[in-house]
Amino acid sequence: MRLLFSTAAAGDPSGFRVGMALLVVSAVLRPLFPLLFKVLVDGVLGHHVASVVLAAVGLGLVTAGGTAAGSYSSLYLWNVWERMTVTIDEQLVGMASRLGRVDRVERREYLDHLTLVRTNRGRFQESMMALLFSLSLALQVVITVVILAAIQPLLLLLPLFSAVPILASRWVESYVHGVRRRTAHLFRVANAFMMLAIDAAAAGELRVLRLRDFLIQRHRAEWWPMVRRRSRAQMFAVAVSAAAMLLFTLGFGGAVLLITVRSVRGSATLGSVVLVLTAGQQLHNQIAGVIGTAPDLFRVLELMREYAWLARYVDQNEDRGTLHAGQTLRHGIRLEQVSFRYPGSEDEAVHDVSLELPAGSVVALVGPNGAGKSTVVKLLCGLIGPTSGRILVDGVDVADFDLPGWRTELSGAFQDFIRLEVVARESVGAGSVAQIESPAAVRQALRRADVAELERELPHGLETPLGRAFLKGIDLSGGQWQKVALGRAMMRDGPLVLVLDEPTYSLDVESERRVFEWFARVAATENPIGTITVIVSHRFSTVRTASRIAVLDEGRLMEWGTHAELMAAGGRYATMYRTQAEGYR
Ligand SMILES: Nc1ncnc2c1ncn2[C@@H]1O[C@H](COP(=O)(O)OP(=O)(O)OP(=O)(O)O)[C@@H](O)[C@H]1O
Ligand SMILES: [Mg+2]
Repeated sequence: MRLLFSTAAAGDPSGFRVGMALLVVSAVLRPLFPLLFKVLVDGVLGHHVASVVLAAVGLGLVTAGGTAAGSYSSLYLWNVWERMTVTIDEQLVGMASRLGRVDRVERREYLDHLTLVRTNRGRFQESMMALLFSLSLALQVVITVVILAAIQPLLLLLPLFSAVPILASRWVESYVHGVRRRTAHLFRVANAFMMLAIDAAAAGELRVLRLRDFLIQRHRAEWWPMVRRRSRAQMFAVAVSAAAMLLFTLGFGGAVLLITVRSVRGSATLGSVVLVLTAGQQLHNQIAGVIGTAPDLFRVLELMREYAWLARYVDQNEDRGTLHAGQTLRHGIRLEQVSFRYPGSEDEAVHDVSLELPAGSVVALVGPNGAGKSTVVKLLCGLIGPTSGRILVDGVDVADFDLPGWRTELSGAFQDFIRLEVVARESVGAGSVAQIESPAAVRQALRRADVAELERELPHGLETPLGRAFLKGIDLSGGQWQKVALGRAMMRDGPLVLVLDEPTYSLDVESERRVFEWFARVAATENPIGTITVIVSHRFSTVRTASRIAVLDEGRLMEWGTHAELMAAGGRYATMYRTQAEGYR
């Protein structure tokens, strides 16, 4: 509850205060109605003109004031909740970006909680209105009960009848929510199939392969079990709530009747009997209102619990390193018995790898698919942390680095690079956001990546909108997108580590060789800060240009040395190299 209100108040503090104040005013005014009615009836019967006039004016004020305050409060608070949806979105983005390591973002519990908050946050507004409605009703109940108790203390017991339906509602909502959480992964998977089916990028392949029915089938296979489980839970929930409500109405009605009969028999005035009847009726409606909105109340609370879970998870998994890397690399990077296992998988993707990458070197990682090359790259970038072992940069453990700071020292093109659909200048310039507006910096980066021809290939040069997100954007070929990614990797001046994870697989062999020879030359001759370049490639004509080569297989380091050394050793590398050379002959 505290988190809920503080999040709401954070978005629009004054709107929140005014809305809440008006809500309290309307909640206080409304229950005064039966009391004034009693004064009116007694005044009429006793011929007290003054009290009749007073009560009549009071009734008018209470009715009009209560209604006006209620409407204005709804107006203010509706805006507050609207803002809150945005606040929550922003906080979710903030939380996700505080998770420095990508394997923490991939954990299933995290994704389940996130799915629930994200898909339900649109209901916040309605649920929050319901919540406040029930809080206001609860305040009215208290006031009505106090008024009734002044006439007949036994009436204090009336609200007790509401305990059963409220408890039932609490139980029902946490039960339904539990089912929702347990089926969140079905929702996620079904949603992924659905998005794939309508994704423009996948459209061609889906049609060629005639995958429509297949996707529909897989979507159904996840969706229907989820819907069935959820609706079964809902049906059960409705039955429990209805039974509890019936119990409440019977008990409450009986009690009011009993008390009215006692008042009639006793010495009560007609006004008091009218008061008990009208206030009793009002109380019933108020309590029924609270009970009716209780599911919304509890739903918001469950949602906030998920939200609090996410906040806790992010706190626990945030990296706390504080050290900063120096401006230059003096010795290099050392991997000491590094192993890594992805969350949820049985085997280690990288197993006990020890490597010494000297400052200023160009290191190539080779090996079959799934050998662990990209995993080593991610480890070097601090995108994942070793399960065991250490990675030392000039003797300092990467785990002790302030990771966002460490990443500003890196640059790279990744295997799963993003196709950033903005204008070409921005798509390249995003490699260094501070220089995104500068065509000169972007041109320099394209030259550094040896792909300067890209600008000529685009109809409006660097200002060409890319991709389908723009109405008039053009789509690039796979190789052109890769040139954009390469240029992006070159935007930063003097990174300490430059990783190129198959950044050229869409380029033809000749272009790839040219690009890598260029990198090797630049690394060897214009490298005063000792930048280590790590390249991953399946093309041995490229790999041989590196100063050191690591051969990986099934996560293990099999061979390590220069091209000449590895060829002379006549091991795995030599065999792979010869096989590929044969193929080109
Ligand atoms: N996010 C992930 N979650 C779980 N397992 C993963 C993940 N990414 C990779 N793996 C597994 O880790 C192992 C190594 O994968 P990695 O991507 O490092 O291979 P690679 O050498 O880069 O292969 P490729 O040449 O195909 O790019 C593989 O067995 C892969 O299935
Ligand atoms: Mg890879």
